Amino acid sequence: MMPDAIGYELDGDIAILKAQNPPVNALGYDVRMGLMDGIARAEKDGARAVLIYGDGRTYFAGADIREFGKPPRGPALPDICDRIESSPLVVVSSLHGTALGGGLEMALASHYRIAVPSARMGLPEVLIGVMPGAGGTQRLPRLAGLDAALDLITSGRQFGAKEALELGVVDRVVDGDPREIGLAYTRELLESGAKRRPVSEMPAPAPVDFDAIYDAVLKKGRGQISPATAVRGIQAACELPFADGMKRERELFRELMASDQREGLIHAFFSERAVGKLPELKGVEPRDLAAIGVIGGGTMGAGIATSALLSGLNVTMLEMTPEAAEAARGRIESNLGGALKRGKITQAGFEDLTQKALVLSTDYAALKDVDLVIEAVFEDMDVKKTVFKQLDAVCKPGAVLATNTSYLDVNEIAAVTSRPGDVIGLHFFSPAHVMKLLEIVVADKTAPDVVATGFALGKKMGKISVRAGVCDGFIGNRILSTYRTCADHMILDGASPYQIDKALTGFGFAMGPYAVADLAGLDIGWAVRKRLAPTRDPRERVPTFPDRLCEGGNYGQKTGKGYYVYEAGKRAGVPNPDVPAMIDANRAELGITPRDFSDEEIVRRYMCAMVNEAAKVVGEGIARRPLDVDMTLLFGYGFPRYRGGPLKWADIVGLKGILADIKTFAKDDPYFWQPAPLLETLVADGRSFDDLNKEAS
Ligand code: COA
Repeated sequence: MMPDAIGYELDGDIAILKAQNPPVNALGYDVRMGLMDGIARAEKDGARAVLIYGDGRTYFAGADIREFGKPPRGPALPDICDRIESSPLVVVSSLHGTALGGGLEMALASHYRIAVPSARMGLPEVLIGVMPGAGGTQRLPRLAGLDAALDLITSGRQFGAKEALELGVVDRVVDGDPREIGLAYTRELLESGAKRRPVSEMPAPAPVDFDAIYDAVLKKGRGQISPATAVRGIQAACELPFADGMKRERELFRELMASDQREGLIHAFFSERAVGKLPELKGVEPRDLAAIGVIGGGTMGAGIATSALLSGLNVTMLEMTPEAAEAARGRIESNLGGALKRGKITQAGFEDLTQKALVLSTDYAALKDVDLVIEAVFEDMDVKKTVFKQLDAVCKPGAVLATNTSYLDVNEIAAVTSRPGDVIGLHFFSPAHVMKLLEIVVADKTAPDVVATGFALGKKMGKISVRAGVCDGFIGNRILSTYRTCADHMILDGASPYQIDKALTGFGFAMGPYAVADLAGLDIGWAVRKRLAPTRDPRERVPTFPDRLCEGGNYGQKTGKGYYVYEAGKRAGVPNPDVPAMIDANRAELGITPRDFSDEEIVRRYMCAMVNEAAKVVGEGIARRPLDVDMTLLFGYGFPRYRGGPLKWADIVGLKGILADIKTFAKDDPYFWQPAPLLETLVADGRSFDDLNKEAS
């Protein structure tokens, strides 16, 4: 008996194998068994050709990622590809949906390929920390040439049917039902006497300087090893006979499969999907969402409005004066102009959005019919309270009232309205039409369907939405504040901002913390420090060198000077020569004799601070699950995706060692290095953060 994951049917002398493993026809054990049996049965039944296609929304979307890291079972994918390609029958694959990874490799092992125009293809394995392992690196260069293979395999990008046809990856593109177009094509091939056409027998491209390509790809990936390792696979295709190339590909694939980076990237893949699925929201319907209001058209408000417009919502933007409203329109139009340039919208779409979907007003009454309103005004509690009192007066019953505050207490804001159940925090990250992260801040009285509406809005806007509880800085900025403080302490003790930035970009961060601070504006942190100063614990070590910078009017990139000096027209800065003296003066005030830090120690302390605060955030319920913290850092703070997030990283390197280090650091600064109770419990019980993720899902 053949497993049900593959349907079998004989149509004349064509055997039809239909994948039926919803939702995405992943090539799991049952599917692999079914394919092996199906080919054998077709041969036994005397068929002359085999047609392979997928039922439902797609052809095979890839290997079953859930099996990664587990002991292998049943026939391996390369063996199936081999079996398909070496079958004496003519094998045709008909592609629709997303033929990705092992799915595309199955298609490449077929002798002919047809696709519907909407089909998407790709070898995205490097994005989940591995590389094509079923002949992708061997067959694609033979079929599409070296440049295309290098581009597609090292980027993992998807490509459409049109490009696939141009590259020779598919032979024909026809609109229609995948089964029908596949059958018609197979019949035509048989009638014209077409023979088997194994890609493995085609000539491979000539070898080039692969070492140089390897180095360039490794550098581009900021230390991610999978794309660079895939280059070695392609190299094998060009330098070795096919069978040896396949062996080499398998070895490289296995190395990556055993890597920490693979674990981190797969954690990111599943967490990205789990983050928006909160157990508490099961069965809770969001409220209607068609028209929204945005208050304040500065960089943040304009970014939010842009993102909302691009997701199909009507937007009413409220500003204080007609001039400010015009300036806001200018910002939104400029953002949308970027989308037009990149081909995300058409000229007609641009005009629709700017002329019909966007309305500007200076009158609160313009917000009376909106379903949801997002306040993005100046970050000051009194200003926010005034806004919410007005919203309470004009908005229709049931409208969701959201604040885009990044630090302030949403409960306090909600309390000035007569409807705290409708109030929520929606914390976007700047520029809001680009950054993927959205923190959905749930206050004490926020109604569940208001939370669901926040998530619905995030989904519509294509954001990664994370649920956060109320505290100073919520999930992301609270953790940021702690690891930034740790970095400042290292500077007081002897490190330089430039060494710290270098060590952390070496770890894989897109930018170091001081370059980020310059980008965000040093005045923001200065304002927070001033706000917190009156309630600060006397045991806290507070550096003053950042204040000295700000007092001189140096706020980072926007003033041309911060930790770095920025020349007009250049993005990257050079170290600001005034900074070392400010740091020296601060050390002298505190009587500190500076010591040397290695890059390893910098990374270790920085990460321990991040993990410790993250564990507190989870322990206090500010984040529901460790994966919520991981996704916050990944999508809002430039954390290297291939490390999975701070808590996945912690699981991988070992919680016991991290706790031990925190306790050692605490000997010098017991106030800053207070171990998170959750971390202590996990270590005592021999459990991991990922165990908590599993329990919560
Ligand atoms: N193995 C196992 N499960 C998979 C999977 C795979 N290769 N691809 C997707 N899924 C699961 C998802 O986890 C999700 O499960 P859930 O509903 O329990 O959360 C479900 O299939 C639907 O996927 P989703 O991503 O939500 O749907 P989509 O329509 O937005 O995207 C894909 C579909 C196939 C484009 C996308 O899931 C994807 O890129 N998958 C990975 C493909 C890949 O990397 N393949 C190479 C592996 S070698």
